[in-house]
Amino acid sequence: MIAMHKLVLRSVTKSYTKGTTVLKPFDLVAQSGELIVLVGPSGCGKSTLLKLIAGLEKLDDGQILLGDRDITDAEPRQRKIAMVFQNYALYPHLTVRENLAYPLRRQKLRMPAITEKVAMVARQLRLEELLDRRPSQLSGGQKQRVAMGRAIIREPDLFLLDEPLSNLDAALRTHVRGEIRDLQRRLGTTMIYVTHDQVEAQTLADRVVILRDGEVQQIGPPQEIYARPANIFAAAFLGAAPPNFLAGRVINGRIDVGQASLPFSDLPGECRTALAGREQVYLGLRPELLRAADDHYGDHLVLHGAVSSREIVGNTQNVYFRTDTACADMTRLSALAGRYLTDELVWTTENSNTGDTVKLAIRPEDILFFDAEGQAIGTHGSDTL
Ligand SMILES: Nc1ncnc2c1ncn2[C@@H]1O[C@H](COP(=O)(O)OP(=O)(O)O)[C@@H](O)[C@H]1O
Ligand SMILES: [Mg+2]
Repeated sequence: MIAMHKLVLRSVTKSYTKGTTVLKPFDLVAQSGELIVLVGPSGCGKSTLLKLIAGLEKLDDGQILLGDRDITDAEPRQRKIAMVFQNYALYPHLTVRENLAYPLRRQKLRMPAITEKVAMVARQLRLEELLDRRPSQLSGGQKQRVAMGRAIIREPDLFLLDEPLSNLDAALRTHVRGEIRDLQRRLGTTMIYVTHDQVEAQTLADRVVILRDGEVQQIGPPQEIYARPANIFAAAFLGAAPPNFLAGRVINGRIDVGQASLPFSDLPGECRTALAGREQVYLGLRPELLRAADDHYGDHLVLHGAVSSREIVGNTQNVYFRTDTACADMTRLSALAGRYLTDELVWTTENSNTGDTVKLAIRPEDILFFDAEGQAIGTHGSDTL
């Protein structure tokens, strides 16, 4: 039977030193059995949030509920939460068997029960052959499995994983990622998984929380954030290559983007309404939604350019092309988004050569629109709770 352990964070705030807020009031409800992935750049407060939930740091304000318990002021040990770190934190002088048994010994469980649980977890994580080895005799992936084993053996109400795969090479990361996902599904234990890797976020999450400077940018299922990012930051964070951002000017019922122009009448209704009365907007064009245009793209936005370089990625290519669509006013946008505001755009395609002149088209309904502050317009970001 799967236990019901919903996690509720209410206005959780934290600062380490007076005046510098690491976590703005943070609200989240993780449903029982849900896998929440918390993403954001280094230093945005991800580890801090996990430490607050685990009780390793004290919150300034707010409330934390787990299941039917208020654990805001509970001792870490009483919280029934297991945390897995990037560096595994295994005891080097203990064997795998002893490492797995350790949390149970601390709980003063009796020996036969410990032996039985260790055997069960070893079977689940395919550690049976490794039980007598010490951590120094294990590969990175094996160490990670032991760390996971030590977390699940306590049958916690909640898992907290802090960049657990960062020390693994790419192939192993993909593999262990799948294992963690399967394990979480099988156990049905609520999990908060921290990463700065958007691929991990998209492949693992039931819902993603995008964090920036201690502030939530958007919460929602990965596909929803991809389709309707709440702002330029969220748009740039999720997706294989970040979108191309172009400056556009709203004039007389149309949007001018360099030499290209898009009449309002070609836009979805909600978008038209939201754009009316504005001057400066930004357009986000996902590289994978740009297509080579011939002359039959009547209602599309069509950009002209010359291919400047290309990167081959498996069976597709990232093609960079220069356009006349210079983006002047980027000062009001964030530094991150600003990096992508250039006259060199990326386009993901199967075939193109350097020097080719290209016409690229995108459907109006595929364009993301942002206001001068980088907030989405014309669409609504997903739920904020
Ligand atoms: N113990 C601490 N004392 C003071 N500042 C800290 C402490 N731990 C983290 N910070 C600061 O809080 C911010 C968020 O850190 P952290 O939560 O570790 O970020 P992330 O895990 O997202 O990389 C950073 O600016 C970091 O320097
Ligand atoms: Mg961290």
